[in-house]
Amino acid sequence: MIETSMKERIKAFIQKSLEPFIDGQTIEVQVDEQPQFGDYSTNIALQCFKRIKTDTQGIFLHQQAVRESTPQGLAHQMVDIMNSQLPPFLSKVEVAGSGFINFYLSDATLVEQTLAIATDAASTIAQSGKGKKIIVEYSSPNIAKPFTVGHLRSTIIGDALANLFEVQGWEVHRDNHLGDWGTQFGKLIAAIKEWPEDFEKITTAQKPVDVLVNLYIKFHQEAEHDLSLEEKGRAWFKKLEDGDQEARELWQQCINWSWQEFNRIYKELGIDTEKFENNGRGYGESFFEDKMQPVIDELRQKGLLHEGKEGAQIVEFPDEKYPPLMILKKDGATLYATRDLATDKFRLQHYGSDITIVNEVGAEQSLYFKQLFELEYMLRWYKPGQRVHVGHGFFRLKQGKMSTRKGTVIWLEDVIDEAVGRATLFGNHDQQTARKVGIGALKWSDLKRSAHLDVIFDWDEVLNMQGNSGPYIQYTAVRAQSVLDKAGAIQEAKPRAFDESERLLASKLQKFGECINTAASEYAPHYVCTYLYELAQAYNAFYNKDNILDAGEETALRLRLTQATAKTLTLGLEILGIQVPEKM
Ligand code: ARG
Repeated sequence: MIETSMKERIKAFIQKSLEPFIDGQTIEVQVDEQPQFGDYSTNIALQCFKRIKTDTQGIFLHQQAVRESTPQGLAHQMVDIMNSQLPPFLSKVEVAGSGFINFYLSDATLVEQTLAIATDAASTIAQSGKGKKIIVEYSSPNIAKPFTVGHLRSTIIGDALANLFEVQGWEVHRDNHLGDWGTQFGKLIAAIKEWPEDFEKITTAQKPVDVLVNLYIKFHQEAEHDLSLEEKGRAWFKKLEDGDQEARELWQQCINWSWQEFNRIYKELGIDTEKFENNGRGYGESFFEDKMQPVIDELRQKGLLHEGKEGAQIVEFPDEKYPPLMILKKDGATLYATRDLATDKFRLQHYGSDITIVNEVGAEQSLYFKQLFELEYMLRWYKPGQRVHVGHGFFRLKQGKMSTRKGTVIWLEDVIDEAVGRATLFGNHDQQTARKVGIGALKWSDLKRSAHLDVIFDWDEVLNMQGNSGPYIQYTAVRAQSVLDKAGAIQEAKPRAFDESERLLASKLQKFGECINTAASEYAPHYVCTYLYELAQAYNAFYNKDNILDAGEETALRLRLTQATAKTLTLGLEILGIQVPEKM
């Protein structure tokens, strides 16, 4: 585990060697996409040139020469200074293009880093989360409704986010905001009572939740011409709220049936439910049933609650920044938002006011989360930055958006079965390998693009072993491991100069920690996919070009490069929740 990343070391070097030019200017250092042209780069010459040129206060009067120069001229001047006092971890500094400056790590440093990574792949990850707390809330399916591919996305992305923060040393709390409360349970119970012959099927059904979903669909279809149904639904919800025994028992049963199903899915996906708060269940909406009134009181006391047009209680935002947010319906019933407020008040009290909270929820709820966060800032519960919504796009299907009410839902289990089935056929794998490959492919296709983008699901792409796919990365990890298995014990690797493909691989390897840092700070696991894909490509290029096992003196270091690759790919995939099969 390192204290400072390579980027920080370079920043410190720039700061120290270029002090007279910098004068408080923020130094930006980037990882270079093409390591042929250096490992890191900075635009500091361009920044400083702009400042010195436009300086009207005379601070930079002594920089007359710079004023008469060009950004490129200044870059050259800076590079000369830096090259004259180069620290051992760098081999050279160069001007590129119109004034960018490139930094090359020395081979000695790259060898040293490779050996450290070969011992521990996490060695490049800075522990920047030490002493910090975060709640990552994800998955959050609804009781008596299908676990949709939307929940699948939330589960996969949320789990990867939580893992990312964990490897950075944060205190991570995983929460599952289960949809186990709300007026829909009144409707469901009304449907159960209305059509007992439908409900009885539940005792023999393979998927009990199917029966509940069908009842819910039927309720909405029938309610279109039978106006009494809505009223019955409301009455049953009232009973449920008032603790009516029959209502409570039916509701509890629905929870149990749904959990059976969710557990099966989590197990299939390799999600460790024990990690969820509240004994592995998460704090579902019903947990906040008795915690809403104090929040409503607080809103009222702070003068934030108003009567809306139709008699509902709403919160309005200054300058109509967002549409009003409803807190209580006109009949006094609480809503999703009321429970979210109670949830976040509870989190404040339970985890401390310095907590960061991430909600991984579909992007269709973006406006809602903006309203919720704004209100929480208005209440002075949280400061901007403490509340984060990571929204994911839709899983696009030919039929368009899914809706439980219309019954156009894709069951997640069918998707998983298909993934495993296809993986079995496609690689001629045994059952266990097929599971790892199928689930890995599914997760990768979900994680590889920025979460807010929609996923258009294409099986051929998802299982493609040549391209940017889960199986390709798994395969490369297996390949590297099999080289190591063949090699047996590794001799001592002496520092030496790298050839080109070795250097590109070593340079990529030592940037793992930086990729983790970017992915965590931007709440964007797709950076890990991009990185792992590039690493796999660098390894395969090296593998195809260099002889590893019978290369005499060269072998030891090549095996260390192989070992560092195997470990980094495995750890990277693990962070994404993807397992590496034994063989492929
Ligand atoms: N159960 C909700 C749904 O399926 C997601 C809950 C998200 N979390 C939250 N704090 N609102 O849409």
